[in-house]
Amino acid sequence: LTDTLPYKVKDMSEADFGRKEIEIAEKEMPGLMSLRAKYGNEKPLKGAKIMGSLHMTVQTAVLIETLVCLGADVRWCSCNIYSTQDHAAAAIAKAGVPVFAWKGETLKEYWWCTERALDFGEGKGPDLIVDDGGDATMMIHLGRQAEMDNAILDKDYSGEGEDYRELIERIKIELKKNPNRWTQVAETCKGVSEETTTGVHRLYQMMERGELLFPAINVNDSVTKSKFDNLYGCRESLADGIKRGTDVMVAGKTVLICGYGDVGKGCAQSMRGFGARVLVTEIDPICALQAAMEGYEVTTTEDALHETDIFVTTTGNKDVITIEHMEKMKDQAIVCNIGHFDNEIQVEKLEQYPGIIEKNIKPQVDVFEFPDGHSIILLSRGRLVNLGNATGHPSFVMSNSFTNQTLAQLELWQKDYKVGVYVLPKKLDEEVARLHLEKLGVKLTSLTKEQANYLGIPQEGPYKPENYRY
Ligand code: NAI
Repeated sequence: LTDTLPYKVKDMSEADFGRKEIEIAEKEMPGLMSLRAKYGNEKPLKGAKIMGSLHMTVQTAVLIETLVCLGADVRWCSCNIYSTQDHAAAAIAKAGVPVFAWKGETLKEYWWCTERALDFGEGKGPDLIVDDGGDATMMIHLGRQAEMDNAILDKDYSGEGEDYRELIERIKIELKKNPNRWTQVAETCKGVSEETTTGVHRLYQMMERGELLFPAINVNDSVTKSKFDNLYGCRESLADGIKRGTDVMVAGKTVLICGYGDVGKGCAQSMRGFGARVLVTEIDPICALQAAMEGYEVTTTEDALHETDIFVTTTGNKDVITIEHMEKMKDQAIVCNIGHFDNEIQVEKLEQYPGIIEKNIKPQVDVFEFPDGHSIILLSRGRLVNLGNATGHPSFVMSNSFTNQTLAQLELWQKDYKVGVYVLPKKLDEEVARLHLEKLGVKLTSLTKEQANYLGIPQEGPYKPENYRY
């Protein structure tokens, strides 16, 4: 791996296959395609250098090519070591976009890819970032902190996950090459649009600590993102991941969904749809009550251990399934996570468990046999199961998410936002939904002038107040 590679993907001979799937996806992504039709000539992103750190899938390829169509100069990497679809990456590389991503990267390679995607020549950074989970944003922020105070790199990071330790190593390497790089990158970056709940958490935390260095748009909390992708996306792709990984019959099984937020709600509905008995855990009384009112049994992981066949974490929190849980699970229990990071399940402790025997069944499927003879099946080593064991969400729902992403990039490029975290205006949210109606044959009712006056809202929207929850 050298800094001179123009791109790095698994196998360029897969490019034609990737292109064919991209063409099918385009038909399912009306939001993105209508942005191409609307802005393709005008090229409003002309001159913008955009770096993306987001699962390099077929759907993301359509996003990348939309940004290119709008005039941007794009570089890309994946935001997870298992989520790249190699044929999509090859097609994008063949189209001339520098992409650094392949399925099954090591963590060292992962941070190398992120760094490469952030380099627009001579250490120059991007004007804009499309981030998913916040890793590109974190690399810049941590890099800059290290440039101001090298000593932070020598702290004891043994308590952190391997992901973080490898990031520290990458920053050390970069610091030797250019001791000023990340400071410059932070100064010239006009903003980031963040895709997911976990990345958005990180942004608000940085903002509260006064550490955020550039403006951010929280795409996740557009209604047409989190109430669609997180919910309906996971409703389809969770089952896809579990089934491609294990071929298990879901009907009749007991499934424990940890967390009943947007993702958890989709996962619970999915498993119930297959005929599973679904149990839910929650820490939030509102979400726990919602689950109970939907007819799910709300319990604790400890109480559910002896009867659960499939465990799914959806919390965005850490240590949700612990080694003590795994010690007591049923034989052949399936354990997986669909939240953004792998720290929901104590995988490192499982790997280091005294006397554990590990068997790889196929990529992203591992069996761990405990000394007492019971085994558990771990999918994607605790990383997001829908992207590791399957191909992530279907195109149509990703069109909603990525139309928001593209609108956020346009906002950041065309306007001068102050440092802060913003959501897109409701009018744009409604517009994203509107762009996806025709494809589904939806007939929308028009509000009459009299009705609009009666409700006290504009006839052309926005139709709901900011505090409406959908
Ligand atoms: P959310 O905040 O709506 O839901 C998470 C829920 O987990 C909350 O209701 C919270 O109270 C609960 N929770 C927290 N700690 C818990 C614990 N110890 N035990 C039980 N419940 C607990 O977040 P959302 O949008 O559902 O996202 C969840 C995760 O999934 C995030 O990491 C997000 O980034 C990720 N995500 C993954 C996707 C995928 O395709 N794999 C798609 C969208 C989001």
